[in-house]
Amino acid sequence: MRLGITCSNQTPDALCVEMPVAVPVGKKPAKLPPWVGTLPADLRGSVVAVFGSAGFEGKVGETVIVRAVTGSAILVGTGSDRVISTETARRVYGSVVQCAAKAKITCLAAPLLGGRDGMENAEAATVGSMLGNYQFAEYRTDRSKLPTPVEALTLWEPDAAKRRKAVAGIASGAALAEATCRVRDLVNTPANDLNPHKYALIAAQWCDEAKVKLQVLGPREIARAGMGAVLAVGGGSANEPRFLIATYIGRKRQAKVIDAVLVGKGVTFDSGGISIKPSADMWEMRGDMMGSAVVMSSICAAAKLKLPLNLVALAPLVENMPSGTAYRPGDVVRTLSGQTIEIISTDAEGRLILADALTYAQRFQPKAIVDVATLTGAIGVALGDACCGIFTEKDDLARRLEKAAAVSGERVWRMPLFDDYDEKISSDIADMKNSGGREGGASVAARLLRKFTGDYPWVHVDIAGVDLAAKGRPYCPKGATGFGARLVLEFLRQT
Ligand code: BES
Ligand code: MN
Ligand code: ZN
Repeated sequence: MRLGITCSNQTPDALCVEMPVAVPVGKKPAKLPPWVGTLPADLRGSVVAVFGSAGFEGKVGETVIVRAVTGSAILVGTGSDRVISTETARRVYGSVVQCAAKAKITCLAAPLLGGRDGMENAEAATVGSMLGNYQFAEYRTDRSKLPTPVEALTLWEPDAAKRRKAVAGIASGAALAEATCRVRDLVNTPANDLNPHKYALIAAQWCDEAKVKLQVLGPREIARAGMGAVLAVGGGSANEPRFLIATYIGRKRQAKVIDAVLVGKGVTFDSGGISIKPSADMWEMRGDMMGSAVVMSSICAAAKLKLPLNLVALAPLVENMPSGTAYRPGDVVRTLSGQTIEIISTDAEGRLILADALTYAQRFQPKAIVDVATLTGAIGVALGDACCGIFTEKDDLARRLEKAAAVSGERVWRMPLFDDYDEKISSDIADMKNSGGREGGASVAARLLRKFTGDYPWVHVDIAGVDLAAKGRPYCPKGATGFGARLVLEFLRQT
């Protein structure tokens, strides 16, 4: 059930008769908002009493339900900042919606928060509430104990001009949130239901709906094209590889100028192959296609937002499995670029399929190449889940991503791409090898990718550390985060 969001000129005293109202309050000694005085006496009294109790502090995301005869309210903390930031707003709406869902409240009203224009405020409210409302219940036969996602959120705003602008913010926010939820869904979907073939069918649905052109290459076409690395990695699985090419032309006058090619790692399951992974956390590798989900959902959202850009999204889809037909350590693989790679570990597979995809990207002579991948465990060791790592030689690309991160709240941290790392992947028999040991693992992987990007402005985004949330957050329940779609879309909006 999708959350329907509207912006209304109704006042809280009227709304509270029909549905619970959210009451945002700052950290004490903050005061309750003045409109609380207009609520029916018993509800007002209960809100004042609960707010006055020592149990409620007003920290960001703190919630408490207040029930009275004439209606109910949810007190939600907004923290101590005098001006509520976009990130705080997203967290506030996410928390209040999660609180409502747990209490099986299906309709909810809340003021339109934030000190910016109606469009930005409404976008933050929409993104926060829709992402907080997310639930992955596909595989539950008994949903009775789960939260009941909220169905309708009414945002009230007295100012008519802000209300008009809010309509656009709700629409753009919904596109951003939907793109994120699609990534979450695919990352959460087990690999037995998401092999390259099934994935291509889902991508075709997305692209149809967004009017994005999609070409799907099968194993024969991948071979004919010369993508030896994609074939090698995919060769161990009974589920044959696919290669997705999605195109969105939003700037028809210059239809040949490609503003960006987005490239995403699409390993539908990464067992490690012959260099098999330890079993403990191997299940997490059903999410190793996350980068590809980010780029496919982003190009579709860009089309829905009608961004004035020409974009291509590329996604090599493979399952990395050990078998009699699997590639082996010691093999030498010939890539689409002509360069050869000696395989040290079949578990360093992401960089191999990306090598072919990055070479393919150069056909479009794009103004920028952005790749997104759950590439290395090392990035998680370095950065934890506070941010993803970005790697680029172009200061301008790094700055643009940093700006997009500040807006979206999906943080980035620039990592080194020194050519010193190249010696770690020099091979005795081939042009390079695919693994260089533990030290500097994330940068070494990025340096391998660098050999396949030509002179095009390129940035690599390693999201391996931010793929899953170990515990729930205000607008991200435990599980797949969907990190990257909002970052990429914000980056594109600023292009
Ligand atoms: N898919 C993994 C990276 C990963 C790790 C993603 C943890 C999400 C969470 C990648 O294919 C991989 O196995 N990388 C190896 C590289 C090594 C063999 C050089 C790694 O990080 O250990
Ligand atoms: Mn791997
Ligand atoms: Zn992998």
